[in-house]
Amino acid sequence: MARNGKVTVVGAGFYGSTTALRLAEYDIFETVVLTDIVEGKPEGIALDINQSRSIEGFETKVIGQTTTADGKGYEAISGSDVVVITAGLPRKPGMSRMDLIGVNAGIVRGVAENVAKHAPNAVVIVVSNPLDEMTALAQIATKFPHNRVMGQAGMLDTARFTHFVAEKLGVEVSRVATLTLGSHGETMVPVPSRCTVDGKPLSSMLSASDIAELVDRTRNGGAEIVALLKTGSAYYAPSAAAARMAKAVIEDSGAVMPVCAWVTGQYGISDVYLGVEAEIGRSGVKKVVETALDGAELDALKVAAEAVRSKQADVKDL
Ligand code: LAC
Repeated sequence: MARNGKVTVVGAGFYGSTTALRLAEYDIFETVVLTDIVEGKPEGIALDINQSRSIEGFETKVIGQTTTADGKGYEAISGSDVVVITAGLPRKPGMSRMDLIGVNAGIVRGVAENVAKHAPNAVVIVVSNPLDEMTALAQIATKFPHNRVMGQAGMLDTARFTHFVAEKLGVEVSRVATLTLGSHGETMVPVPSRCTVDGKPLSSMLSASDIAELVDRTRNGGAEIVALLKTGSAYYAPSAAAARMAKAVIEDSGAVMPVCAWVTGQYGISDVYLGVEAEIGRSGVKKVVETALDGAELDALKVAAEAVRSKQADVKDL
């Protein structure tokens, strides 16, 4: 089987290490690089994943590399086709993602500058929080074209919505299609009008109040897990989402996914990173895809755009 390409995951916390594992297990990349500033951690996790290869039956090699704040070790990422940035702190119970903006901005900026230096042709997928703002910051710090920097959030929020609908109706998740746009925060926009079960509208199966409850649970999906874990945030569904995006890039699949992408007039919104559907491929975001929204959903998307626009304007100084 032909393997190709190099993908780097920056940050070997739970999110980063599970993302690296998923990417390695796809067995489509030549190399997965995992970096962290905690000395020995990425090397240890890489060795552990590599030792699972003969059991799970994959050949992709994982390389662990400790990096320093002043950029030592980043040579290991050189020539990466895709870089997933997971670096930064996760939430603790009671925190909003926005509470992380100051500390994570410093971390993401430093990482992004090193990515630009050592992997100048990479497509960057940001997952650090607050997501929409950190994605905007990574684009500013890398100076990459907007299409080559995107954020992971919509895949995750959509998957959560799908899970909640499937659970509520007692059906397989494969029969459910949902969609979530907007921000990965207070102004998340779950889109009930685009939700179906076996192709039938969700509104024909659930009452408006039931749907509103699921929308609300989706919007708070991350916080629900943070409150249960008490020591950090979710990583299994988040890493699945990030890894699928990286796979779509390397395979140049053109898969349409909800991601945090730079919008240029779609939905009447311009020049902001926002959760929208987009075709993902070798160039990153190949095209933002507009979907039909009802009036309230479109209004909510515009509210989300303005909320993230004002926060994204702040990040250039962080
Ligand atoms: C979440 C974090 C990763 O939503 O943002 O779980």
